[in-house]
Amino acid sequence: MIEKNVSSINVIVSRKSLLLLFTMTSTLFLMSWFFVLGSTSQPQSIDIELIPNSRRFSNNNNDYATWTPEKYVEPSVGNRAILVNSKDASSSSSQDSYDEGKCNKNNEEVVIKIFMYDLPSKFHFGLLDWKEKNSVWPDIRGAIPGYPGGLNLQHSIEFWLTLDLLASEIPNAPKASSAVRVHNSSEADIIFVPFFSSLSYNRYSKINQHGQKSRNKVLQEELVEYLAGQELWKRSGGKDHLILAHHPNSMLDARVKLWPATFILSDFGRYPPNIANVDKDVIAPYKHVINSYVNDTSTFDSRPTLLYFQGAIYRKDGGVARQELFYLLKDEKDVHFSFGSVQKDGIQKATQGMRSSKFCLNIAGDTPSSNRLFDAIASHCVPVIISDAIELPYEDVLDYSDFCLFVPTRDAIQGNYLINLIRNVTKDEWTRMWNGLKEVEAFFEFQFPSKEGDAVQMIWQAVARRVPAVRLKMNKSKRFSRCPSTTTSDIVEKSIHVPSNFW
Ligand SMILES: *[C@@H]1O[C@H](CO)[C@@H](O)[C@H](O)[C@H]1NC(C)=O
Ligand SMILES: *[C@@H]1O[C@H](CO)[C@@H](O)[C@H](O)[C@H]1NC(C)=O
Ligand SMILES: *[C@@H]1O[C@H](CO)[C@@H](O)[C@H](O)[C@H]1NC(C)=O
Ligand SMILES: *[C@@H]1O[C@H](CO)[C@@H](O)[C@H](O)[C@H]1NC(C)=O
Repeated sequence: MIEKNVSSINVIVSRKSLLLLFTMTSTLFLMSWFFVLGSTSQPQSIDIELIPNSRRFSNNNNDYATWTPEKYVEPSVGNRAILVNSKDASSSSSQDSYDEGKCNKNNEEVVIKIFMYDLPSKFHFGLLDWKEKNSVWPDIRGAIPGYPGGLNLQHSIEFWLTLDLLASEIPNAPKASSAVRVHNSSEADIIFVPFFSSLSYNRYSKINQHGQKSRNKVLQEELVEYLAGQELWKRSGGKDHLILAHHPNSMLDARVKLWPATFILSDFGRYPPNIANVDKDVIAPYKHVINSYVNDTSTFDSRPTLLYFQGAIYRKDGGVARQELFYLLKDEKDVHFSFGSVQKDGIQKATQGMRSSKFCLNIAGDTPSSNRLFDAIASHCVPVIISDAIELPYEDVLDYSDFCLFVPTRDAIQGNYLINLIRNVTKDEWTRMWNGLKEVEAFFEFQFPSKEGDAVQMIWQAVARRVPAVRLKMNKSKRFSRCPSTTTSDIVEKSIHVPSNFW
């Protein structure tokens, strides 16, 4: 149902754009050209077909039959988890909602061509204690360095996206094909900077005892220096670059220098709008830490808890609503509030809790997003979202109201408003949303090798939809190239001013 919605959106958009194009070219070409030049707004939803350089082909998985990657390396250190148990991943995603054949028929494929810098390995796999030999990249046909488990995994998009690009170079690799790596940057739609910034933040942000800078800080400085020295960066001022900063605290220092690039983020909570915004950047899901609910046969009646919440009640900022809601809901006997984050042994409890609840509460915390939403989706527990500023992954092609309830904060904290609203949802309505969750859950699944329609492919497609806006910006920036005394950035970007004391 959701897939159909997605393709019907595309159909509507493409008809509209064709009509628009026709009208403009025949009569209003000149005028519209001036409008385009004069406007600073960027296209919001662009039909994939309009993206130049996109290639379409029908994917025949038989081509891929010859290559099977080995399993992940067993973690040698205690605090490391094996990444994805490939059996787990494939069984969860081979559920009714996720059928490769079906997906391939319905979802036409876009290929985005990506140039990836061969950054020294200390910026990526070296952070996983992998030692480079002949290449800065591991040979992914063999064992792949493991990514630290636990909560680190929430922000592991950098790992999955980079692996997917490396896999795109291996003939017959069993990967989905939204993105391919190209080595000639003139053929690329976008330039990818493979810095594992979230891992760098999670593992290396401690200042050492001699008071020297943390490794995370040093790497960011070195990255800025590296990019500033690249012809590709100078050519565009970074506008056609793609940078990953999924952890809200990652790239804290470099973001103020690298902002012309497109970022992949979890939310905009800790960014001023001139550095990151919905027009320029891409929101990616967290990797859920609760396992997918495979073969879920639960029903409205078999899930005894009405509403489930797990998390800290008291948060520094943005989370005032949590406290209010706790006091409003604590006496409802079928509402479960539990405190503390989902840690090792907590995961078992949270899994049990979410799978036996009809609704799962997501309240804004320190930042508007949290991995709890993606845990709820994986558990087929209908999310109730109370976070007015939340930005959701791929929302231009996905209607979250099909499978989530959104409640404005000011209403949610009024007396019995929230509980009444939730109790009012009928069994049929709930079942429809539960089915919706099962249809979309594959979009939030990170795995290697990546599969059609999983999170990796959805993120690449979201990036591909940014490409026309990037091209527009690049061409615009060349307007005054014949007037050396005036740089375009003086004019076009005058309004973008990052106060130096912001951080
Ligand atoms: C890169 O691609 C451009 C445009 O397709 C082409 O003109 C150029 O010769 C290519 N460079 C190399 C080194 O292949
Ligand atoms: C799910 O159901 C299928 C088919 O009945 C079965 O083969 C598979 O083992 C089940 N998986 C789990 C995790 O229960
Ligand atoms: C619950 O449903 C009833 C009947 O449909 C409606 O009158 C009432 O306003 C609803 N309450 C809320 C809080 O949505
Ligand atoms: C600029 O405009 C040309 C068409 O004249 C287009 O082919 C190109 O992709 C645009 N973008 C860039 C980055 O050159």
